[in-house]
Amino acid sequence: MTFDVDAMLGKLDLDAKTRLLAGQDVWTLPPLPEIGLASIVMSDGPVGVRGVRWTPDDPSLTLPSPTALAATWDPELAERVGGVLAQEARRKGVDVLLAPTVNLHRSPLGGRHFECYSEDPLLTGHIGAGYVAGVQAGGVGTTVKHFVANDFETERFTAEVDVAEKTLRELYLAPFEYIVDKARPWGIMAAYNGVNGSTMTEHGRLLNDVLRGEWGFDGFVVSDWLAARHTVNAAKGGLDVAMPGPKTVFGARLAEAVRAGDVDEQTIDDMVRRVLLLAHRVGALKGTTAPLVSEVDGAELAREVARRSFVLLRNENDVLPLDKPRSIAVLGALADDPKILGGGSATVFPADVVSPLDGLRTALPDGVDLRYSLGADPRTTLPTASDGFALTAIARDGEGRELATFPLPEGRIRWIGELPGELTIDALGSVEIAGTLTPEASGEHIFGITGAGLFTLTVAGKTLFDGATVREGADVVTAVTHVEEQRYTTELTAGERVDIRLVYRVPPAMAGGIAWISFELGHSGPIADPGAALEAAVALAADAEVAVVVVGTTADVESEGFDRKTLALPGKQDELVTRVAAVNPRTVVVVNAGAPVEMPWRNDVAAVLLVWFPGQAGGAALADVLFGAHEPGGRLPTTWPERLADCPVWNVEPKDGVLHYEEGVFIGYRAWERADVAPAYWFGHGLGYTGWEYTALSVEPDGDGGADVRVRLRNTGTRTGREVVQIYLTPVDIDGGRPARWLAGFANVEAGPGEEVEAAVRIESRSVSIWDDSWRHVPGEYAVEAAHSYANPRLTTTVRLAKTG
Ligand code: BGC
Repeated sequence: MTFDVDAMLGKLDLDAKTRLLAGQDVWTLPPLPEIGLASIVMSDGPVGVRGVRWTPDDPSLTLPSPTALAATWDPELAERVGGVLAQEARRKGVDVLLAPTVNLHRSPLGGRHFECYSEDPLLTGHIGAGYVAGVQAGGVGTTVKHFVANDFETERFTAEVDVAEKTLRELYLAPFEYIVDKARPWGIMAAYNGVNGSTMTEHGRLLNDVLRGEWGFDGFVVSDWLAARHTVNAAKGGLDVAMPGPKTVFGARLAEAVRAGDVDEQTIDDMVRRVLLLAHRVGALKGTTAPLVSEVDGAELAREVARRSFVLLRNENDVLPLDKPRSIAVLGALADDPKILGGGSATVFPADVVSPLDGLRTALPDGVDLRYSLGADPRTTLPTASDGFALTAIARDGEGRELATFPLPEGRIRWIGELPGELTIDALGSVEIAGTLTPEASGEHIFGITGAGLFTLTVAGKTLFDGATVREGADVVTAVTHVEEQRYTTELTAGERVDIRLVYRVPPAMAGGIAWISFELGHSGPIADPGAALEAAVALAADAEVAVVVVGTTADVESEGFDRKTLALPGKQDELVTRVAAVNPRTVVVVNAGAPVEMPWRNDVAAVLLVWFPGQAGGAALADVLFGAHEPGGRLPTTWPERLADCPVWNVEPKDGVLHYEEGVFIGYRAWERADVAPAYWFGHGLGYTGWEYTALSVEPDGDGGADVRVRLRNTGTRTGREVVQIYLTPVDIDGGRPARWLAGFANVEAGPGEEVEAAVRIESRSVSIWDDSWRHVPGEYAVEAAHSYANPRLTTTVRLAKTG
C-alpha cells in the first residue's frame, strides 16, 4: 500500500489531528478509524518488553542490564538483542519500545546508571545504534532517550542542566547524533530536565534546529511521561506527542490553542505527519505490514548476552575457571535471590529466574560437593510472597461483592492502565491478595505491604494492619515504582496452614481515570541472628576448597527516581567477604550490581567477577563461566573507582534547581586521567581465559581526516577466546583543553589457540574533531594505540591525520 500522508491528513479535522498527538491512556495513542489507523502502543524497555499490563502474570523475557550489554562491546550482539525484543514486542502487541537509554555515566551516583551504557559517547552510540537497528528491523519503533543531559535523578522533573555547547556536542548529544545517523530511529524521547534555560519538551533549538535540522531526524518526538508542561511552547518547541493521557497538554488543549491563533495549523500538520509516518513504519495503518520477525530463542540469548557481559576483574593464579574442586561453599543472600534488573520503568517480570545457586547446582560436575549459607543479607525489602503460599487476586465492587478472581503466581498486583478480564475501574471497590501460607519454620514471621493507599492485612485471623500507607516526598512516578515497605510480624508454627488476606481499597477518585493499582505482599520466615549467619558462612568457607561469595546492591540502591548516596555495598557484605577471604585463599567474589560499588577487599581475594544485573538467565551464565564452558567476555564500559571520594565527577545534586556540568568534557576516563588519580579498574578492563599477543598495527589515513586501522593479534593460550581490540587516540602536540586520550574505535575478534587474527577498525573523521562553534577537524600528529584496555596499550604508532581531499 502506498503511504499517502496528504490524503490522510485531508480526512482529519483539527480535533482528530490534535487527539492523535496525545495519549488516550498511559501507553497508547487513539485509533483513527476514518483513516484506518489502529491505536499505537508504546512500552518500556530497555531489558524486556513490559506490554501494557505491567504484571507478573504477563511475564517478559528479561535480558541483562544495559551496562551489561555495553560491557560486551559488541554492536552486533546489541542488534540481536534488539531483534529478540522486537519479537517480544510483537507478541505483546507493542508497536514502539521506549528504549534505548543513551544518557552517559557522568557520575557513578546516577540512579539510572545501570540503565545507560557507558561513560564514553562512542561506545554508547555504537551499542545504541545496534540495538535500534535490531528492534526496527523487526518492524517495531524505538524512542532513543532521554534527550538530553538526563544523567541524574535528583529533582528530575524540574532540574536544569547548565552545560557548555562544546560539552553537549562532544559528549551528551554525540550518542544521539550517531544513532540518528547510523540507525535512523523512528522516535526520540524528550527528557524531563531542562538544558540551558529551556525544558527539553520545549527546546526548539535542540529539537527543531539540531535534531531535525542539522541531523535530519525524520521520526517523532515523544515527551517523557508527564514531561510536557505547556501546550503552545511544546508544540512550537518541537514535541509531537504528549504522554501519558488522557489529560495532557495536547489533544483538546492543542486544538484550542490553534483556534486562539497561538499555534498555526501547519505546525499541527507537521506533527501529525510524523506520527503517521511512525504508524506507517510500525504497520498501524491498514494494509501496511510489519516485516516478519524470525523466531529467536530469547532465553538462550539472555544467557549468551549475560556470559558475554561478565567482566573478570581479577583472576589470581588462574583460579577461574574452577578445576573440579572437591567442594564449593556458596555464600550471600544474592546467591539465592539475585538482583536481576534495576528499578523503575525498566522493571519487567520474568517467567523464570535462574539464581546463581540454581545455575551452579544444575551444572555441578559429578563429585563436587556444593553447600550454601546465607552469610550476610543486605536486602532491606522482604521477598515477594511466593514460597509456601497459594494465592489468588480477588476484585470486589464497592459493596464487597466479588467481581472476578485471577490466579496469582506471587503476592504482587500491578494493574496499571489496563485491568485484567472485563474489569472496569468505575466498578472496582477493592482488590485483594488472598490465600494461605504453610510456614516452613516456627517463629516470628514478617509480612510487608508495599503500596500507597488504604490497606488491611489479616494473617491467621489477626488484623496486623488497617489504615493508610503514605510515602512523603515521592514524585508521581516514583510513588508507584519505588514505594517503601511497611512491616508487621506474627508468630506462626511450622506446617500449620494459615489464611492470609491483604485488601487494598481503590480510592473513589480513581473512577473515570487511569487504573493505577500496584501493591505487594512481602514475606520472610524467622530471620537468623546476623552474627550467627556470618559465623556459619565463615565456617562453611573454611572447610570448602573454593568459596563463591555473591555480593551486590539491592532494590533500594539502584533505581530510577533517586540517585545513590554511597557506593558502599549495603549491609555486612564487605565483612562477609573479608572474613571468608581470611579463611579461604580461593575466594571468588561475584559482584551483582548494575553500577560501580566499592570493593575494599578486592586485592585480598583470588577472583572478582562482575555480573551486573544479569537478567533471567544470570545463574546459568554464571555456571557457564565459573566451570569454564565459556569465558567471561566483558570489558568495563565505565571506569570503576576505588572509592567514591576519588571520583573526579560525582555531584548529582542541583543547586537552586541547576546542576552545573562544570567539568566540561572531562567525565569518565577523560577526568580520571586529568585528575591523575588511579581508579580501581580503568575503562576497557576485563580478563578472559586466554592470552593475546598484539603483533602488528598499521594505520592508513583516509584523506578525510580519519583512518583505517588494522591490528594483528595472536591467541597465546590453550583455548578459543575473544578479544575486544580498543583503539585510542592521543594528540601528540596536546592542544590545551582536550582530553589526553580517547576511544576512537573498537572491534571484536575470536581465535582458536595459537591462531592469529586481524581486527579492522575505522577511525571516523569525527573522532579527530572538536566542537568550536561548528565541528572542526584538528589536523596533526596523533599516537594511535591498539589496546587491551585504556590502561593497557599493546602497540602504538604515530600518524598525521588531516583532510587532504
Ligand atoms: C521514564 C522513562 C519511561 C517512562 C514510561 C518515565 O518516568 O523516565 O524512561 O520510558 O517513564 O514508563
